[in-house]
Amino acid sequence: MSTAIRPDGPKGHLIRGNLPEYIKDPLGFLMNATRQFGDVVRLRFFNIQVWVLNNPEHIESVLVTNNRCFIKPLDFRMPFFRGIFGNGLLTSEGDFWLRQRRLAQPAFHKNRIADYGRVMVKFAEQMSATWQQAETRDMHREMMILTLRIAIKTLFNVDADRDVELMSSLSNELIGMFELQESPLWLVHNYLPTRANRRFGRGIKQLDQYIYGIISERRQNGGDTGDLLSMLLNAQDEDGSRMTDKQLRDEVMTLFLAGHETTALALSWTWYLLSEHPQVEAKLIGELNTVLGGRSPRVEDLPELRYADAIIKESLRLYPPAWAFGRQATQACEVAGYSVPKGRQVFFFPWVVHRDPRFFDDPEQFRPERWAGEKMKQLPRYAYFPFSGGPRVCIGNSFAMMEAVLVLATIAQRYRLKLVPDQAVKPWPVFTLMPRHGIKMVLEKREIHSTLSG
Ligand code: HEM
Repeated sequence: MSTAIRPDGPKGHLIRGNLPEYIKDPLGFLMNATRQFGDVVRLRFFNIQVWVLNNPEHIESVLVTNNRCFIKPLDFRMPFFRGIFGNGLLTSEGDFWLRQRRLAQPAFHKNRIADYGRVMVKFAEQMSATWQQAETRDMHREMMILTLRIAIKTLFNVDADRDVELMSSLSNELIGMFELQESPLWLVHNYLPTRANRRFGRGIKQLDQYIYGIISERRQNGGDTGDLLSMLLNAQDEDGSRMTDKQLRDEVMTLFLAGHETTALALSWTWYLLSEHPQVEAKLIGELNTVLGGRSPRVEDLPELRYADAIIKESLRLYPPAWAFGRQATQACEVAGYSVPKGRQVFFFPWVVHRDPRFFDDPEQFRPERWAGEKMKQLPRYAYFPFSGGPRVCIGNSFAMMEAVLVLATIAQRYRLKLVPDQAVKPWPVFTLMPRHGIKMVLEKREIHSTLSG
């Protein structure tokens, strides 16, 4: 192993290190630090050192080749994350994680999730049927409600309005708490009985009650109701054992929260980008007319909806919902020619790497066409990684891509969404990459599809 000369990085404040600059403008700060210091950048927040990896090969070495030397970063073991996700797929480690992943994987098999395509289209149609010509809506809010409905239906086979309202208000509360985690006082938020933490505790309790209620009902009635919960309930390990109620609760909560907000963001940013690029939108409508001829999209259409797929890919490149994630070394190991000491946290930022001109021509430009070009075929594997990679790759990536393309196709056939002018649409890098003040858009009904339901 090479003996480490540690990587270089921006100097920062004597005590707080790089925190003040980071807090002021995280995305700008990271982009500048990368431009200045290159593939490996050392940052310090008080006494915590973090290395940022910007080279796809180095990212691959952490996520794939040397993945056994790393676990999820420190945050994931804090009471806040544990309270929400318990020991679910996102936060668990080692043999326990591997067993759970094996049990859950079949629920995401292509054939199984294909059935959910109908739910996705139906709910998108129902939502757009409630919209009125020329009204203004916050598309981020709309997409959150839509993906939440889809998540509840596909997870629990429940579509009662009452449940949707309850889950929506609770999940908004939890997502609000994620925002607090980005504050410099996050340790306080984690360990002290602040008012926000007490509210958070109550929210978790209510969600738990809801989920445990569904689990117990399902255990009594048995059978496969076609949803993800049925798959998890019936999943059996090699030794015949099944998940306990607590394990089921942790997995269901993880799928519910990890799945719906990220997909809503992918769609929200897509509507924003389309409104700014009318030529891309026109080409999309051309594809929808040719492939669908005015009917609702189906899962079988997905291979034909190539441009719609490229639009989502390109939107995930420019606005990756999981804009940052990381790992912590459990033992000394070598990455990028440096000796990474045990305990060191390394981070990767899809936001930064996806905008690297070494891999993407005119990286700041929204150009879905690039995904059909030759250059993308030679793209290093980890130059584009909105769903991460290696053993911990997002289990819901096919589900999310299917949902995003089907919802895009369904709604774009019915409405043109125009950005309300003079609106500052700003990416806000909290746990996920949110639009800070929402994305207000005016709905314009498309003539040609006025005969479609909705
Ligand atoms: C556009 C939408 C989505 C994005 C961008 C996204 C992104 C990610 C990323 C980057 C990771 C890995 C983080 C890491 O390596 O530390 C991840 C993990 C995960 N995602 Fe997603 N995700 C999306 C949708 C979904 C959906 C729809 C579901 C479930 C229905 C889901 C469930 C999960 C789970 C359970 C994990 C943990 C997997 C494991 O560690 O074994 N995600 N996601």
